[in-house]
Amino acid sequence: MTHAAITGWGKCLPPAVLTNADLSTFLDTTDDWIASRTGLRERRVSHVSAIEMATVAARRALACAGREPGDIDLIVYGSCSNDEQVPNSASGVQLALGARGAAAMDVNTACTSFLYGLSTANAMIRTGAIRRAVVIGVELISPYMDWDNRNVAVLFGDGAAAVVLEASDAPIGLLGEQLGCVAEQRHVLRVRGMGCVYANRDVVLGDTAWDFEGQEIFKHAVQGMVRASAAVLDKCGLEASDIDLVVPHQANLRIIEAVVSRTGVPMERVMLTVQRYGNMSAATVPVALVEAIEEGRVRPGATLLMPAFGGGLTVCAHVVRWGDRVTPLGTTDAELPRCDRSALEMVTAIRARKADAAVRSGAGLRAPRLDVR
Ligand code: ACO
Repeated sequence: MTHAAITGWGKCLPPAVLTNADLSTFLDTTDDWIASRTGLRERRVSHVSAIEMATVAARRALACAGREPGDIDLIVYGSCSNDEQVPNSASGVQLALGARGAAAMDVNTACTSFLYGLSTANAMIRTGAIRRAVVIGVELISPYMDWDNRNVAVLFGDGAAAVVLEASDAPIGLLGEQLGCVAEQRHVLRVRGMGCVYANRDVVLGDTAWDFEGQEIFKHAVQGMVRASAAVLDKCGLEASDIDLVVPHQANLRIIEAVVSRTGVPMERVMLTVQRYGNMSAATVPVALVEAIEEGRVRPGATLLMPAFGGGLTVCAHVVRWGDRVTPLGTTDAELPRCDRSALEMVTAIRARKADAAVRSGAGLRAPRLDVR
């Protein structure tokens, strides 16, 4: 049966860095609290749209694979922070790339969106529906962040990364996955204002308020990822000792440590980016994958485990067998436009806009907790 090899990879991180010290200029928090509870030291804040970040990441992945946009049959855009809902975001990337022959679809399972997108494209390649796909994980969280809520504002960042998948006769690429959802817990992470259910309920679209039960998320994230990792290893006939590198979702260092120790993999075999980028939701796993390859931590033939969780609470774990090539076939000069504001200046502007919107909508942002579950 046909397999789907990962033949290209590329990331796009916006240049503006928001440090823990920056956050403590307007929040009652400290570098020490954030670093010790989460592992984070800094995160990125984007000056461009999510589609722009995704397009640069996709161009880099295509160049790495030695492919042109016209070679692509499908673009999967994994994200929960779309620039707009209709038209979808994948079509925006298709247009920007000039990938005229490609189908274009969005996948939203929150932080697991890249991995669910990987499963989707992999399945389509294996059935013969398509031969080549670009799968993107991207998130632009900063405009939707409640920057005055220290429980969530310290955790997230913006970024994007993409991979190219191609049909291959070799038994490489995605070996197996375990997908699931702990829907009873969907209320523990909800961003009010990011969806149409709020249109007539006193919440202004785009002006968000976060319902966030950190400890509940923590508990279910660990349990879910440990279960999914055990299940996918079993499906693939592998032991924890067969895993060369874990590339996990990067929400919190303590969550990662709990998951890998229970799975039986030592921390030396874990790729960490959370300290530099924070939780970029759908972008965390592909950015960590790209950096692992760049740092020489993915060797030819390596077996990778990728556990993740996201709002929903969606959970999953994927096992990927790498091919022979760990170097790019080509490069591109694709870049984001220059950023001439600091991350703190951008965040200050977002806070001012939100405060203004709150005044204009009266009690809008302080709407009572909704009863949708
Ligand atoms: N700075 C200083 N103090 C803070 C901050 C902050 N940024 N945030 C919370 N605190 C305070 C709390 O108010 C609380 O104070 P209190 O004891 O006076 O009430 C105290 O610190 C302890 O708070 P806890 O919630 O118990 O802290 P905990 O150790 O659980 O860490 C955290 C909180 C980091 C949010 C943790 O629960 C966590 O990481 N949860 C998972 C979050 C997550 O992964 N989110 C991503 C979900 S999205 C996704 O990836 C799908």
